[in-house]
Formats: sequence, C-alpha cells, structure tokens
Amino acid sequence: MRILLVGGAGYIGTHVALAFSKRGDTVGIYDNFSTGLKQNILRDSEVYEGDILDNEYLHEVISKGWDALIHLAALKAAGESMVNPEMFSLNNISGSVNLMTGCSLYDVKAFVLSSSAAVYGEPEYLPIDEDHPTRPENYYGYTKLSIEGHLDWYHRLKGICYASLRYFNAAGYDPHGLMTGLEKEPANLIPVVMEAAAGMREKVLVFGDDYNTPDGTGVRDYIHVTDLADAHVRAVDYLLAEQQSITVNLGSGHGLSVMEIINETRRVSGKEIPAEFTGRRPGDPAKLVASSKRAKQLLGWCAQHSDLESIIKTTWQIYRKTT
Ligand code: WQD
Repeated sequence: MRILLVGGAGYIGTHVALAFSKRGDTVGIYDNFSTGLKQNILRDSEVYEGDILDNEYLHEVISKGWDALIHLAALKAAGESMVNPEMFSLNNISGSVNLMTGCSLYDVKAFVLSSSAAVYGEPEYLPIDEDHPTRPENYYGYTKLSIEGHLDWYHRLKGICYASLRYFNAAGYDPHGLMTGLEKEPANLIPVVMEAAAGMREKVLVFGDDYNTPDGTGVRDYIHVTDLADAHVRAVDYLLAEQQSITVNLGSGHGLSVMEIINETRRVSGKEIPAEFTGRRPGDPAKLVASSKRAKQLLGWCAQHSDLESIIKTTWQIYRKTT
C-alpha cells in the first residue's frame, strides 16, 4: 500500500512511519520540518518538504496516488492556543481542510486524523468513552473537534472515510531505539522529567500536590507511541475494508500520577531528579483516563507497551545518550 503521512517527521509521525514501513508499505512523508526531524526519516521513504498551507504543492503531492492519508501535522501547545488562536485556526483548521479537499480531488478514500483527548475538556465521568460530551477547555482542543466536524461532512458529501483517533498522553520511544529525535523545548511531563534526569534542566516543577488523587498530583493516561502507531495501521486497514468512518479513543485505560512518573524515572535512570512543588497549572484536570473499549471492538487494538516501566525505559534509553 501507499500511505502519505502528513506531519510524518514529528515524534508520533516517525513512529507511525516505522509501523507501516515494517510491514512493507510505501511511506510518503510530507512535512514542513518546523518541528519534525530529518534524522528520523526512514531511508526508503519518499520525502516531500512542504507546508499544508501551500495548497498547490500539497495537492501535487496528494495527486501521486495514495491508498490512505494520515494527518499528524498540527500545532499542539494547548496553552499557546489560548494566546494565539489565529495561528491555530490557520494551521490546524484551514490546513486540515486543504488536506480533505486534496483527498476529494484526487480520490484518496481513507483519512486518519490524529485527534486528541483535549476534545472532551473537564471529565464528567471516568473512564472517558467516545460518547462523553465534547466541551474543549482550550482552543487547541476546539480545533481538533472542528476538524472532526469537517471530516464528517467530507464523509457524507464526498465519500471519504475517516478514522479520528483521540490520543490521550502519547509517551515512550521505539523499544529498539530506532527513533532518536528529541523534542525541542518540551512542555509535557515525561520529556521534562527526562531532561532533568539527563542534566539538561535543573529540576522538574510539579504542578499541584493537592488534587483529589492518591498522592495529590495529577493523573494521566499515558499511551506508548508504538501502541499508537499500531492503531494507525489497524485504522487504515479498517477504513479500506469496511468503508465506514470511526472515532476512537487511544489510551491505556489506567492512570499514572506525576510522582509515579518521576519516581520511576529516578529508579530507571539512577538519577536524583530534583522536583519542586508549585501551584496547579490553570486548566489541568485532576485525572484523565480513557476507555479504549471501542478501539478494541472495532480495531482489535489494545495497548501492549504502555506500562509505566516500558514507557520510562524506552524513553530513558534515548535521553541517556545525551548525558
Ligand atoms: C501531564 C501531567 C501536569 C509538566 C497535553 C495536552 C493534551 C495532549 C497531551 C495533544 C499534568 C503535570 C506537566 C510539568 C507537571 N496533547 N506536569 N510538570 O496537559 O495532560 O496534556 O498533552 O493532544 O492536549 O494538553 O500533558 O504532559 O503537559 O501534563 O507537573 O512540567 O503532568 O500538571 O498533571 P497534559 P502534560
């Protein structure tokens, strides 16, 4: 099969590329390399350097004949989306519509969207299933919800089948160490903790120790990126076989606290990792955990690598090389 990965040079995209390439599919990477890394592009991929806002070049690439398009090109800093919404509507919403239009013009019938748990907002019940109300608390989450809405119209009007994959907290690295690119200036917990362990930053700030959770720190559902990648392969196969659109959560189904992440990284790395408690980060819920029942039912998918030890070990094996 021929699979076009838009945003395929990013952290998740490179792992998705690896999964398709491992089973012998031809992978095309379309990326503007604003955050994506050339070092992670597999040798046998077709590489197209371009922006999703450059409709002419984008459509030229989409016209090259693809069985499926996977859209991972988005701005994802939730905090920044509240200060610079214009950037997010342009890149995330307009850029996605450009992709859908390209698929409609050049008859690409399967579209996989990298969506987010951010579409749900503050949880009303746990674990969060796909029927949970969608009330995003930040503009980033709203852009993902809006893209899902556009996709639904393109499905109805143009026959494009889509899989909207709502990721919880993506984490970990390829267990064989094939992907080595580190995120620049990360804000997410695990890379921040890793940087502190590797001596790249002084300490970890723990945002809140008074949540209603067992140790008082925030609890999230961390899903290993290799598991995420596997879900993309299954989603493409599902769309091509069933010709029906789906929306599914991708999470491990269990929560880990900030302190569990820090303590496991201390254990695995043997480093002290100074941590300082500060106030809560605005907009952070106490606990987010996914129900991934639907992904299991429809895709036969379940998390295989998303236990705490695998997530931390596979990440530390990359970061330790920087020490
Ligand atoms: C995890 C926990 C923090 C950093 C974000 C996006 C979301 C999705 C995944 C893409 C929380 C705490 C964090 C730090 C800390 N992205 N923390 N110190 O906020 O759950 O989700 O990434 O779709 O949309 O919002 O992830 O890694 O930032 O935080 O204490 O320096 O770690 O308070 O409890 P989050 P995170």
